[in-house]
Amino acid sequence: MKTTSGFQKMKSSGEKIAMMTAYDAPSARGAEQAGVDLILVGDSAGMVVHGYDSTVPVTLEDMILHTKAVRRGAPDTFVVTDMPFLTYHEGTKETVQNARRLIQEGGAHAVKMEGAGNVVDSISALTSGGVPVMAHLGLTPQSVGVLGGYKVQGKSDEAAHALLEEAKEIESAGAFSIVLECVPKQLAELVSKQLSIPVIGIGAGKDTDGQVLVYHDVIGYGNGFVPKFVKQYSDVDSIIEKAIAEYVNEVKEQRFPEEQHTFTMKEEQLKSFYG
Ligand code: KIV
Ligand code: NA
Repeated sequence: MKTTSGFQKMKSSGEKIAMMTAYDAPSARGAEQAGVDLILVGDSAGMVVHGYDSTVPVTLEDMILHTKAVRRGAPDTFVVTDMPFLTYHEGTKETVQNARRLIQEGGAHAVKMEGAGNVVDSISALTSGGVPVMAHLGLTPQSVGVLGGYKVQGKSDEAAHALLEEAKEIESAGAFSIVLECVPKQLAELVSKQLSIPVIGIGAGKDTDGQVLVYHDVIGYGNGFVPKFVKQYSDVDSIIEKAIAEYVNEVKEQRFPEEQHTFTMKEEQLKSFYG
């Protein structure tokens, strides 16, 4: 299993890190078998699995449950779990307690937290407590209300400089990696070059140290809106729809089940019923 030191080595050697989300055992198994370097149990689960319109309603219990399932499906892959909305903003004590549950109950190897500012203290508290932390800057979906929607971040000079400074603070606080979401590629390249820890991009161009995408987006499963930064490598939705429609049809037309799907009694046994 690759760990934080492995990801650091990948950055040094220029080998790109391929990260993907997973939420349950089968998605995690697929990720592991296909050679994903690390799995993120993203709070995007709220949207792609639970049908909420943001990540805000996701709870710690939800993330523990998803993490347990992912670990069972991918026992040999490093698993990072998102700390959900407002579970790391009431001080270090509460942050540590919540991270402890994701690690001890869920089985996560590391946690991810969005933003800088006060969050930087949480990053150093967890790191000194032995918990590897991945940070997340740029478009931080838990702050959708403050950001006023899902849009590209760090476009102005001021915002770009501020983001670079935040990234440096986060590195100093001990984070092992940073996700950069929806920022201009030049800014992502700059941050990746100026930091020594791996920068994983999503909607951040090709010059970061790695990429992350949501499982459902990669395979084309269950998503209505597909953001510009997504590449769908399959259209699983159409396969699912076709299979289910065929099943429904065969039931209606009495073509399913067939002999091979059916259990039978011996003829003699039937005599006691029919004489
Ligand atoms: O929850 C998630 O899927 C994420 C990735 C998009 C980085 O945070
Ligand atoms: Na997330």
